[in-house]
Amino acid sequence: MESVSSPSWWASGVLYQIYPRSFQDSNADGIGDLRGIIDRLDHLSDLGVDALWLSPVFPSPMADFGYDVADYVGIDPIFGSMADFDALVLTAHARGLKVILDLVPNHSSEQHPWFVESRASRHNPKRDWYLWRDPAPDGGPPNNWLSEFGGSAWELDEATGQYYYHAFLKQQPDLNWRNPEVRAAIYEAMRFWLRKGVDGFRVDVIWHLIKDDQFRDNPPNPDFAPGMPPHAALQPMYSTDQLETLDVVAEMRAVLEEFDNRLLIGEIYLPIERLVAYYGKELKGAQLPFNFALLSTPWNAREIAALIDRYERALPVGAWPNWVLGNHDRPRVASRVGEAQARVAAMLLLTLRGTPTMYYGDEIGMPQVPIAPQDVQDPFEKNVPGIGVGRDGCRTPMQWDSSPNAGFSEGRPWLPLAEDAARDNVANLRADGQSILNLYRALLRLRRAHPQLTRGDYQPLAAEGDLLLYRRQHDGRSLLVALNLGDEPVSAASDAFGLDGEVLLSTLMDRTGERIGATLDLRGNEGVVIGPAPEPVV
Ligand code: NOJ
Repeated sequence: MESVSSPSWWASGVLYQIYPRSFQDSNADGIGDLRGIIDRLDHLSDLGVDALWLSPVFPSPMADFGYDVADYVGIDPIFGSMADFDALVLTAHARGLKVILDLVPNHSSEQHPWFVESRASRHNPKRDWYLWRDPAPDGGPPNNWLSEFGGSAWELDEATGQYYYHAFLKQQPDLNWRNPEVRAAIYEAMRFWLRKGVDGFRVDVIWHLIKDDQFRDNPPNPDFAPGMPPHAALQPMYSTDQLETLDVVAEMRAVLEEFDNRLLIGEIYLPIERLVAYYGKELKGAQLPFNFALLSTPWNAREIAALIDRYERALPVGAWPNWVLGNHDRPRVASRVGEAQARVAAMLLLTLRGTPTMYYGDEIGMPQVPIAPQDVQDPFEKNVPGIGVGRDGCRTPMQWDSSPNAGFSEGRPWLPLAEDAARDNVANLRADGQSILNLYRALLRLRRAHPQLTRGDYQPLAAEGDLLLYRRQHDGRSLLVALNLGDEPVSAASDAFGLDGEVLLSTLMDRTGERIGATLDLRGNEGVVIGPAPEPVV
């Protein structure tokens, strides 16, 4: 489908996720901070991204590293001060970079004053701001709902004799989104940041906000198998993705619409057909309900082509697509698909139709770092050990240069660095013309130079063996993308697919300008973008 005639910044741009604890430490406490991010904005400008999204920087006891918010309108001293935050927005904007914050409205910290009040007594005015229920007749939890981080989702408050619901840690009680006062309070917090010039929000677990009003038991999951996280034993039929959630999303969007050009992103892990409902009625929901399908789709041409088709078909008319290859909750792409395929994955992400979101460090091919038991920080891994749910390995410090701790910190980093950090870092890879970092830079330049990539429609051409081939077309001009998802060479007859022109970019960075002959030959793990020869510069 043809895209809108003049796309918003978030439709033509590329988003870059920063996990602030791990980007750059400026005060030698081993934890990244806002000053550190300001000091590294050169990297983002040099890379060519358009917006940075910060995982939470609000005051927090850090039980879930900031996803347990104790104050929605402050900055945690670990990350700096409000003045540092203002300076970050100012400096980023001066460079043409947008700033997106992480809003965590589904739950607060147990130390948030709202919850402190709520648990104080059954009659406290804030009691109904959270989800309190009487025990079941046997004294146990009110229903069978499970926490995503292991165990029951209900915690008994001895003093008041009721249970409260927490979809994640017991230190993260869920707010009651059926209560209008809760809604108003969070919307005010959003306005606080929007007035400061923040360009949008990524909303944490937005599909969790509303729960069944009768708190019915969730049914068992027939596909549950040993080795899966324990909460997967049930289908979250009554605890997530309730129809009324879409009204809340529309209200959040309306708050953003009080300001110009702001973006609402929803974190949503749902099958595509449900995911697209979060664009909202008349597209008045999230502009970008995160599409995480590439994180779990088997890495082969047939499955990926089928996924793209399914997603493109499911999109409501006028809805803008988006794609994600990595985030702070999932194993690093370079380890998932392998170092060689990580380049092909980069080309896929940056040539599909829709807004790409990059995860910090993927541009230098950062691997999933093995974490020794004594170094584990992630509460999910601590609660559910040994089955591979730990998220520390994708949150390790950014690798900047060959100085101690790869230039991340002069203190002891809160997580270990990758083994090869002294070699595989921004400084070294920037100096190597064929590095993955320079590939990312070239892909981002190519996107900017070609409206076919930022705005064009998507036409599948082939998914045969390891070859994935598609066309991006805008205003009658085409680019072709050919990706080899395997280790062995593949060829395609040029006539059969209308392959004409020359190589604009190869993932191996050594074929630019090569004319396309009778066949297109790709080496193992190679992808190319083909297009008309660039106009000569006079
Ligand atoms: C999703 C976030 O991405 C994850 O890191 C966090 O632990 C949970 N939501 C709970 O907030």
